[in-house]
Amino acid sequence: TFLHARFKSKGKLYLGNILDGNTLHDTSITNVLRSEFGSITAEYSWKWSRIQPKEGEFHFEGADAVFDWAVANKKLIRGHTLIWHQNIPEWVNATTDKTKLTEVIQEHIRQVVGRYKGHVYAWDVVNEPFEEDGHFRNSVFWRVLKEDFFDVAFHAAREADPNAKLYLNEYNLDYAGPKIDALLALVDRLQKRGVPIDGIGSQAHLTLGKAGSVPAQLLRLAATGLDIALTELDIRIPRPVTDAKLVQQQAEYEMVVKACVDIPNCIGITLWGVSDRNSWVNATLPQFESPLLWDKDYKRKAAYRGLEVLLA
Ligand code: G3I
Repeated sequence: TFLHARFKSKGKLYLGNILDGNTLHDTSITNVLRSEFGSITAEYSWKWSRIQPKEGEFHFEGADAVFDWAVANKKLIRGHTLIWHQNIPEWVNATTDKTKLTEVIQEHIRQVVGRYKGHVYAWDVVNEPFEEDGHFRNSVFWRVLKEDFFDVAFHAAREADPNAKLYLNEYNLDYAGPKIDALLALVDRLQKRGVPIDGIGSQAHLTLGKAGSVPAQLLRLAATGLDIALTELDIRIPRPVTDAKLVQQQAEYEMVVKACVDIPNCIGITLWGVSDRNSWVNATLPQFESPLLWDKDYKRKAAYRGLEVLLA
């Protein structure tokens, strides 16, 4: 595997990407995943609403399809994600009792983490707990359990698979502000009370021209002494895309990847997609486009060639 192998030669664990039902049967995507990347994250089928839509009713077909491909192709697997305010079924969101919600979290994690025990390198145990101003999101987990939901989730994950690295995952940690400050303060509290956290995932969904402080903020995350990883890297371009913007995108991918290379405990990077055609950005942020290393026709972009040279 090309980019992944070069990234490993810099002392890193993996350069990864995502896969799911919407790309699993596209050989243009799976050929690139096979040859260029060393880790796989499911884009959506490992989320709660897909796996346990009704209490006690587990559906693993979609999740198993991604898992089986990753195992067959000898890729590391990042489990994404266990506790998140999105993709939570109504039966969970309607829970008001502390004991009940604690049991519901423990059972979900026991079933999901237990199913893939020994094969998942890292789990995003809690995803996106903060608002932009650093307050906790008003999720059912926060409403009912306050900060204890982190303890419940991380301990349950550790018990279900002691060998998996347990991550706290968040976005917009790319610049100074109340969100990264709140996350660092939380990580300190969790560590002090013996919560088994091994890593911090910085999603790094970046906007062209606004990535300048990524290296400095990565250093702050790394100073915790935990493993850190860029878990969902892409760099969206404000329309219209021009050749100049694509060259700038190359430079910014190089800057961000080099920042991780230069930080010893930055152990890996996952890109959130192979081809621009499948990116979440297209439907969610239509004023932006072209965030990835391959274009809509699966052609390598300047950003790919930049990483090729950087990692030579
Ligand atoms: O592909 C199926 C299609 O066959 C089906 O007809 C349709 C209707 O059910 O669903 C399609 O799957 C959708 C999938 O995106 C692929 O387009 C899912 O419904 C939809 O939920 C899914 O959205 C994902 C989103 O998280 C919510 O799970 C995106 O793929 C995924 O890129 C996005 O990723 C998130 C990270 O998990 C967390 N950080 C932010 C990031 C971007 O929003």
